[in-house]
Amino acid sequence: MLTLASPAVVAILSELIEERTGLHYGPQDRDALVDKVSERAVQAGFDSLLDYYYFLRYDENSGTEIDRLIDALVVNETYLFREHQQLSVVVQRFIQPAVRAGRRPRVWCAACATGEEPATLAMMLAEAGILPQVTIVASDISERALERARAGKLSRRSLRSVPWPELQAKWIREGADGLPLVAPELLGAIDFQRVNLAKPAEVERVGRCDLILCRNVLIYFSDEVTSLVVSSLAGNLPADGVLFVGVSESLLRFSTSLVCEERDSVFYYRKVR
Ligand SMILES: C[S@@+](CC[C@H](N)C(=O)[O-])C[C@H]1O[C@@H](n2cnc3c(N)ncnc32)[C@H](O)[C@@H]1O
Repeated sequence: MLTLASPAVVAILSELIEERTGLHYGPQDRDALVDKVSERAVQAGFDSLLDYYYFLRYDENSGTEIDRLIDALVVNETYLFREHQQLSVVVQRFIQPAVRAGRRPRVWCAACATGEEPATLAMMLAEAGILPQVTIVASDISERALERARAGKLSRRSLRSVPWPELQAKWIREGADGLPLVAPELLGAIDFQRVNLAKPAEVERVGRCDLILCRNVLIYFSDEVTSLVVSSLAGNLPADGVLFVGVSESLLRFSTSLVCEERDSVFYYRKVR
């Protein structure tokens, strides 16, 4: 049983979490944060959140527990063909023309959760006959999400927006447990890496990318962290490289080296020359 969390302890815990992950918790998120952190603290054998905080902050062996806490905090909601119109623009307006011009585009799905986004992209590229000409990198901060992504494990819910049944029949298998699995030829085309977007050095290590999808994750960051993440991502883009964020996310209030453009009713951000 945990002792009650004082506002001061919750404040230092949320500060620590934001410092390590970028995840921002406002006053309205306090109860949800306390519930999740308390559950982890109890599972790790602590009976006070303050002791748990000291362990996370100062103990040199806290790495594994921090990873578990991250797994408990992040929202991994995703599904195949999420915000499909954006992905169609990515494939038809950017990747196909680049391949036709003889280039090999490098595309990064940053914050890919359990892998449905890169799997969708790989499926669309395979359907267009250009998967072997494209490099796909996919990353997330959550090791647990990445484990599922690497194994291609899907939930039935994540199939809910697949636009044509033939696509599902062609690219989704049934696993031994009866649950859907991404076809190995798609998985084999994706390089999964663990990357914390709030750490500029980790972003830089991914290297040059012609196109970055960073969708539905900036909403969990403060404006300050969003600015930092966007400027790190922009550092990986060559001139004319593009960044796509989620359809409900906008970068217009930030001053960046990127300009907002629109194709086929889809907004994206291009690095100016
Ligand atoms: C809602 S999912 C979005 C998945 C996918 N991009 C989509 O749009 O369907 C958000 C993902 O962001 C990841 N995330 C949160 N903070 C992160 C960080 N600092 N670095 C990298 N990924 C992070 C979470 O682990 C989670 O998998």
